[in-house]
Amino acid sequence: MSRNKSSRHAITEQQTADVSEAQIAVHWPEEDYFLPPPSFVAQANLADPGVFERFSLDRFPECFKEFADLLDWYRYWETMFDASNPPFWRWFVGGRINACHNCVDRHLTRYRNKTAIHFVPEPEDERVQHVTYQELFIRVNEFAALLRDFCGLKTGDRVTLHMPMVAELPISMLACARLGVIHSQVFSGFSGAACADRILDSESRLLITMDAYYRSGKLLDHKEKADTAYAEAAAKGQRAEKILIWQRYPGRYSSPTKLVEGRDVIVNDTLKEFHGKRVEPVQMPAEAPLFLMYSSGTTGRPKGCQHATGGYLAYVAWTSKYIQDIHPEDVYWCMADIGWITGHSYIVYGPLALAASTVVYEGVPVYPDAGRPWRIAEDLGVNIFHTSPTAIRALRRSGPDEPAKYNYRFKHMTTVGEPIEPEVWKWYHQSVGKGEAVIVDTWWQTETGGFLCSTVPALHKMKPGSTGPAIPGIHPVIYDDNGQELARGSGKAGNICIRNPWPGAFQTIWKAPERYVNTYYSRYCKNPESKDWRDWPYMAGDGALEAADGYFRILGRIDDVVNVAGHRLGTKEIESAALLVPDVVEAAVVPVADEIKGKVPELYVSLKPGVESTPEIARQVSDTVVSRIGAIAKPHRVVIVPDMPKTRSGKIMRRVLAAISNGQDPGDVSTLANPEVVDRITQLVR
Ligand code: PRX
Repeated sequence: MSRNKSSRHAITEQQTADVSEAQIAVHWPEEDYFLPPPSFVAQANLADPGVFERFSLDRFPECFKEFADLLDWYRYWETMFDASNPPFWRWFVGGRINACHNCVDRHLTRYRNKTAIHFVPEPEDERVQHVTYQELFIRVNEFAALLRDFCGLKTGDRVTLHMPMVAELPISMLACARLGVIHSQVFSGFSGAACADRILDSESRLLITMDAYYRSGKLLDHKEKADTAYAEAAAKGQRAEKILIWQRYPGRYSSPTKLVEGRDVIVNDTLKEFHGKRVEPVQMPAEAPLFLMYSSGTTGRPKGCQHATGGYLAYVAWTSKYIQDIHPEDVYWCMADIGWITGHSYIVYGPLALAASTVVYEGVPVYPDAGRPWRIAEDLGVNIFHTSPTAIRALRRSGPDEPAKYNYRFKHMTTVGEPIEPEVWKWYHQSVGKGEAVIVDTWWQTETGGFLCSTVPALHKMKPGSTGPAIPGIHPVIYDDNGQELARGSGKAGNICIRNPWPGAFQTIWKAPERYVNTYYSRYCKNPESKDWRDWPYMAGDGALEAADGYFRILGRIDDVVNVAGHRLGTKEIESAALLVPDVVEAAVVPVADEIKGKVPELYVSLKPGVESTPEIARQVSDTVVSRIGAIAKPHRVVIVPDMPKTRSGKIMRRVLAAISNGQDPGDVSTLANPEVVDRITQLVR
């Protein structure tokens, strides 16, 4: 164990960001525009071009009143924006609000019997559950009563959720929000070990999970992961008081993993004691954290992005209304996972704040075949559709002609999470959207709460392969490496930053305020003593360029993050996992272009002297990565190398490895300490 620790330490010291996704970004020529269909424009929530004037930089911060006014406040805020402690901005200070009230209770007068959540189970012979706002209200109240009165939770406590895509996930989140309890939902595909790290970091009192769920036709044992998560977190000092287990089939326990008496609680049984119970929503300060969302960064430790109640909810409500164009009568389907920020903002909080009907689909898009999403759209009358380029590529490959077979009509479609190739965009437009839907390519991040760049769907032309200009209220700037601003529309690549704060931005990294300042604000801060927000641009960590027409193109991460299928994975997390294999002494991850997933991680490892390279070791490394992080991080390939290409100071040259992996010329390697190794690695790889 100590050997692993010290080798990990040695590696970590050597590594810095010497390769970025931007360097291997896909480049495509500028495309012609597509016009939004007149039928869309005629009904759009936002068709007034004056909006950009209203949200110009000199109207900051007052312009954001319009965001807050989409919500119900118990007490209206006094101070719109408090910049007294940069860059820890505070929004709507003095206001009192409850997110659950805004997403549920306030809709009962007009929309009591309207569907809030359509839960679509993966097995096609299981009926869709249509949860009305009234039923959502009842279920959220009963579960909130259980959390408060049975578990003793109180405002400010943290709870980790490790839930699959079922209606009980938003119900659990909203019940927490009702009590002012901070939820931290971990993507269900993540391993028990990854869940443990998040329980530990957030000091969660409870773990809420489900016994089982469907994925590609298999009922997976999910409770098993809860046992691992509990045990690992407990061993490191955070013992959850209970594990609450929802049943995938109420009344029946569907996991082969045994229950632990005194610790494990079957929610569906215990809930019976709370039938009919009501819980008054807690009137939270606007500034109170609503949830944590862990995301990957440059170090091995995921960061808990902390989002505020008032600012976040206002931001996702406004962007859902005007960029997603959600009206209460729409049926809206975002085919992301609620375990990522997209699902929090644009499956749960944004759409429900607007009283929309939101679809929660349990399974994979191509199960049992590539017609599945279009059957769901037809059956439910979905008219707004939201997904990632990875899903679009997969659907296009396995069923290019499927959409035409189904009778649905989308007025609006979104792509999010990674750059979309123009040919893929055009298939999305022509085949999925049947040439009738407007498309928005939205660029944003876990940290930003909601969209930063996108076309305003009724106001802008669409340009395949580019996100839009900034949305109203967001003012980007691109800096070069020396901190000089690039001229607007120069078409030159640099680091994209946002000049101004905005209400949806995260408040800090949970328990790591210095990391927050250093990662996002230090590099381009004009004066660390300054109390003026103008001196504190937010650095997104993406390479980008702005074309002459003001449209941005995002080139990829500038840090040690690989964007796999639109999800962020830290290279350090994968490398740390690889180093747990006793024979491995060095590990380096590089992103490799992939036809479907955009990027996949490729893992290079070197072994202890004298240890022979075998396929068994490669398999062990791959399995360890999956068990430490989850299947999403599974290396595309594990390459065992005799030595890593290194600089004279001993730094691993990931740039060289990335070039080899992507079939590119590694360039001049003569200054390396061991240039001869480059040819040997190239032979191994090709
Ligand atoms: O590199 C950008 C890429 O995804 C990163 C954010 O990942 P995450 O926090 O997991 O949030 C994903 C969902 C918002 C960004 O730093 N990215 C996101 N959207 C786009 C994108 N790259 C290109 N085009 C996009 N539309």
